[in-house]
Amino acid sequence: MKAAIQELMDDHTVILRMLGVLEGMCRRLSDGGRVESVDLDSALDFIAIYADQTHHGKEEDYLFTAMERAGFPRDGGPVGMMLIEHRQGREFVQALRLAAKGLKEGSPSAAEDAMSAASGYAQLLAHHIFKENNILYPMALNAIPKEDWETMTRDFARVEAERMGPVKRAGYEALVARLETVYPPLEKGRNVARQSGACPPR
Ligand SMILES: [Fe+2]
Repeated sequence: MKAAIQELMDDHTVILRMLGVLEGMCRRLSDGGRVESVDLDSALDFIAIYADQTHHGKEEDYLFTAMERAGFPRDGGPVGMMLIEHRQGREFVQALRLAAKGLKEGSPSAAEDAMSAASGYAQLLAHHIFKENNILYPMALNAIPKEDWETMTRDFARVEAERMGPVKRAGYEALVARLETVYPPLEKGRNVARQSGACPPR
């Protein structure tokens, strides 16, 4: 296993844990309970910085670019599909951000909107991660030449240093662990894509 791919898969493990937290938040709201604004804001910060800016940044700016050089088109095929799903994820996150604002302002539809956006995002991203781990990354491992992997490992270290900010990887992992204790996933480490019924899409 190349170090760069191992790093992306390690990112996925942490992101999947946060998806479990989102579903825990969803269940809390569905039961008529309360999700603290500070916790929802922390989850949104993790999604924006750790998942999107840093992890998707490593993929879009370096892995997918190396795959493109190896012959995979960016406008279609598996790389194009992953890019479409990244954009769909950003739309769910934007909806969740609006719902979080509504919850703070006491909007009557905010809890429903938050559940819809959070469960939609969790399901989309869990399936997306499954496809990357099991289909896209093996394709990349076969296609990308050795020298590109060496450069990519250095590029990833720079992306983390520049984009993850002062919280750093350890800080985000600590955040996930704290939120897991407040909004426990159904089963720790379980693939949230299979948690149907926990917080069904509305
Ligand atoms: Fe990914």
